[in-house]
Amino acid sequence: MRTFMVANPKGGCGKSTVAVHLASWFARSDEVVYLGDLDRQQSSRQWLELRPPSLPRIRHWNLSGGEVTQPPGDCSLAILDTPAGLHGKPLKKMLSEVDRVVVPVSPSRFDMLASSEFFEELAEIKAVRKEKVGIAIVGMRVDQRTLSSQQLVEFLQQFDLPLVSCIRSAQRYVQAIDTGTTLFDTHGTAAKEIDQWRPLLDWLVSRR
Ligand SMILES: Nc1ncnc2c1ncn2[C@@H]1O[C@H](COP(=O)(O)OP(=O)(O)O)[C@@H](O)[C@H]1O
Ligand SMILES: [Mg+2]
Repeated sequence: MRTFMVANPKGGCGKSTVAVHLASWFARSDEVVYLGDLDRQQSSRQWLELRPPSLPRIRHWNLSGGEVTQPPGDCSLAILDTPAGLHGKPLKKMLSEVDRVVVPVSPSRFDMLASSEFFEELAEIKAVRKEKVGIAIVGMRVDQRTLSSQQLVEFLQQFDLPLVSCIRSAQRYVQAIDTGTTLFDTHGTAAKEIDQWRPLLDWLVSRR
């Protein structure tokens, strides 16, 4: 059983979008996937309620108490969506329960500043220092050919954290979320978008 957590204290950077995409990707394989939502806004849980039953199944991991509990016994992969503002003790506790952390970052100045405090906090946490937890960054709404993507790369160099994927901005993400689906459910019509996720998916299944 592995647990992946999607986190960044900045709201709106794409955490829920990444969490549901990862859940739907791994649900297409043999994994028994549980999606847990620790955010009071419950975006991921609401998305899951809309999900058509004909699509690969993602199970609901009920975390309404706001704390990470043991996932159900049949779970092979748990994905955690987390709230904005997550830091301090709750962050530390969550990190002790997970294998990988995916941090979506938008290339805006405000997002990068908010993320830098988060990266500094992460670097102090024992599970991270001892490399028990792997951390990777995903550029969200980033077109790799633009200046802002270069600025994101330069910004991340100071933290020694890998930028594994850059996901460009596309209206399809917004539309998919509205129907309980993801771009991975589109039967090949979003091939270019899906290619951008591959390095992240490879990193998640790698042994490091
Ligand atoms: N790559 C993208 N392209 C276009 N819209 C996006 C993209 N990623 C996220 N969004 C949109 O941005 C908004 C915030 O994303 P969300 O995943 O809810 O962020 P968070 O969970 O961090 O608050 C949502 O409306 C979502 O559909
Ligand atoms: Mg969210």
